[in-house]
Amino acid sequence: MRILGIETSCDETAVAVWDDQKGLLSNIVASQAEHSEFGGVVPELASRAHLRKIIPLLARSLSEAGVEPEELDGVAVTYGPGLIGSIMVGLSVAKALALGLGLPLIGVHHIEAHIFSSLLQDPEVPLPLMTLVASGGHTELVLVEEWGCYRVLGRTRDDAAGEAFDKGAKMLGLGYPGGPEIERTALGGDPEAVNFPRPLPPGWDFSFSGLKTAVLYYLEEHPDARVPDVAASFQRAVVDVLYRRLTSAASAYRVPSVAVVGGVAANRKLRERVSSWAESSGIRAVFPSPVLCTDNAAMVARAGSFHLSLGEASDLSLAAEPRPPLPEGRKT
Ligand code: KG4
Ligand code: ZN
Repeated sequence: MRILGIETSCDETAVAVWDDQKGLLSNIVASQAEHSEFGGVVPELASRAHLRKIIPLLARSLSEAGVEPEELDGVAVTYGPGLIGSIMVGLSVAKALALGLGLPLIGVHHIEAHIFSSLLQDPEVPLPLMTLVASGGHTELVLVEEWGCYRVLGRTRDDAAGEAFDKGAKMLGLGYPGGPEIERTALGGDPEAVNFPRPLPPGWDFSFSGLKTAVLYYLEEHPDARVPDVAASFQRAVVDVLYRRLTSAASAYRVPSVAVVGGVAANRKLRERVSSWAESSGIRAVFPSPVLCTDNAAMVARAGSFHLSLGEASDLSLAAEPRPPLPEGRKT
């Protein structure tokens, strides 16, 4: 089965081709530079950039894959969550292709797509898999009982982990996206310089807004603070929270494997801490390669191929949704 994947839910325009036998045939991601001067994604600019880029990217992705449109078996596309105008661009293109080529359309939930990036990285990963989804828009702890069957154990009550990195970076006068900027700046800093709070709400939820406020107050009280020290201490606090939640949940549910997915999973400190814990606990840890962590269409195509193999496809009336819940699926 050969599936075209399309992802336009935020500020990455991405098209990929996945083949069940041969693997990933192409995976093209165009990040939008137009938002950096605003310190965050401007929705209207994002939709317009998707419109400009999507058709040339589609052509490039198919030609790199060496696949003619007629050789596809389905079109998978993110229908949400995300920016409604941006999702609509990818969804319209996917519907037009599905209709024109007579192919099934498979609507994919963006979080489920991120979860599938761990299967792309490690096709043999044993289940149940405790997955931390940490991106600019989401921070969720999801127990993958079977592929297609998810239990959301916890989620952020306010800011997402990536959003915390982005806002922290802005306060420190660093660029956007904030995660890579903080990571780079933190290399020259002392992670123990400032003892920022590690909020752990009851249950498995997350909360990062207090941490953001703590950085704001710290900078107001210490105008001469060394930026690398604050960046390193801030990174240590966010990583600590994510690490503690993921590893305690993995122990509580006695899973054989854990995965960290989404843009924040590109963070090296987070990867290092989770891997050394996993090694000493005899648990398999999956970290998709950085191109599969940040938004991409390979994960969408992979999730689409899974659903289509079960005979699950969407109607052409599928609507873009800004905040659909993660479909929990049913245990077979
Ligand atoms: O998954 P993603 O590309 O898009 C969303 O679905 O949101 O995630 C983007 C987020 C941004 O907030 C960015 O700051 C964060 O991931 N990020 C990182 C790193 N690379 C990207 N956060 C921490 N460390 C990184 N190296
Ligand atoms: Zn994402």
